Amino acid sequence: MSYQNTRIAETAELLKARLAGLDNKPDIMRSVELKALFDELKHLPADKKAQFGQEVNQLRQELTTLAKAGQDEQESLPPIDITAPFDVNVSQADRPQLLPSETGSKHPLMTELETVLDIFYRMGFTAVESREIDDDFHMFGSLNFPEDHPARDDYDTFMTTQKDKNGKPYIAPAHTSTMQHRVLTKHKANLDKGRPIAAVIPGRVFRNEDLDARHEHTFYQLEGVFVGKGINAGNLIATLKTFLQEYYGKELDVMTQPFYFPFTEPSFEFALSCPFCDKKGCHICSQTGWIELLGCGMIHPNVLKEAGIDPEVYTGFAWGGGIERLVMMKYGIEDIRHFESGKLDFLRQFS
Ligand code: DAH
Repeated sequence: MSYQNTRIAETAELLKARLAGLDNKPDIMRSVELKALFDELKHLPADKKAQFGQEVNQLRQELTTLAKAGQDEQESLPPIDITAPFDVNVSQADRPQLLPSETGSKHPLMTELETVLDIFYRMGFTAVESREIDDDFHMFGSLNFPEDHPARDDYDTFMTTQKDKNGKPYIAPAHTSTMQHRVLTKHKANLDKGRPIAAVIPGRVFRNEDLDARHEHTFYQLEGVFVGKGINAGNLIATLKTFLQEYYGKELDVMTQPFYFPFTEPSFEFALSCPFCDKKGCHICSQTGWIELLGCGMIHPNVLKEAGIDPEVYTGFAWGGGIERLVMMKYGIEDIRHFESGKLDFLRQFS
């Protein structure tokens, strides 16, 4: 719509731009600029009144229509999934500005993660990033943690006061296993085509921990999921051993010990021979010759069933462990807190 009067035309432009940003679209009708035009109309001489009045009314009509259309569209939008990894709808202009990167360098954890992922890509795995806010179902329910089971307390979880549709708080994930159900459901069609599900999931995780040289409240994990026909614990051990030897560039011995996780049966704790002393014992492995690295096991039939996979036909293994621990062992880093410290002395050693 066009307006002859420049004041009205300018006000129209201004108000239409403002309308786009309003949460409650009808508020546009209460703008002071619109009211000012009506005030002006009252004081105009009779010969100007008709033309001006007609255009101001036309503007009011146009804004009413736009506000209604905008409100209808807003109400029909799907609810925002606050657990989505990032908001793809944010326009480029509204995204945070990043500082120029010439003087910065990649964080050592990200460089190492690329090396880790590269090894798994070569082994036929795909990678999926985990998310930084999730729900009770993915953190516990889909992973065979019964309601009120004490194993839930092992995860020192941070929760929000906001509740999801089941009345449960949202969760800052305490492990990357939160992604298992999503990966299994998304890729289960592979199985019908005779291909396995093979995915690794890096991600940031959060725990309400007492902090020391080995424990951080925020750290990274790498999860792995592999499902197919006839998959057994031997495949699990071979996969992890191959990865670790490739990553550390040397032959290593591995050791598994029985453990408990609700989402695997049997479950293991996986240790590898200390790459610094070849099992002789040193300060890095606390003189034991072994370093505990991750949790793993054969995926529990209930976890497969929950994702619609028949555990009578398919079996699989999964693992999850801290990425910092891997990197600390590679470079002899003695304190996990260096990674999130932002200390340039530490970071520059890797740039
Ligand atoms: N999510 C477990 C933890 O953070 C680690 C883990 C154990 C992951 C066994 C797995 C698994 O996928 O199968 O303590």
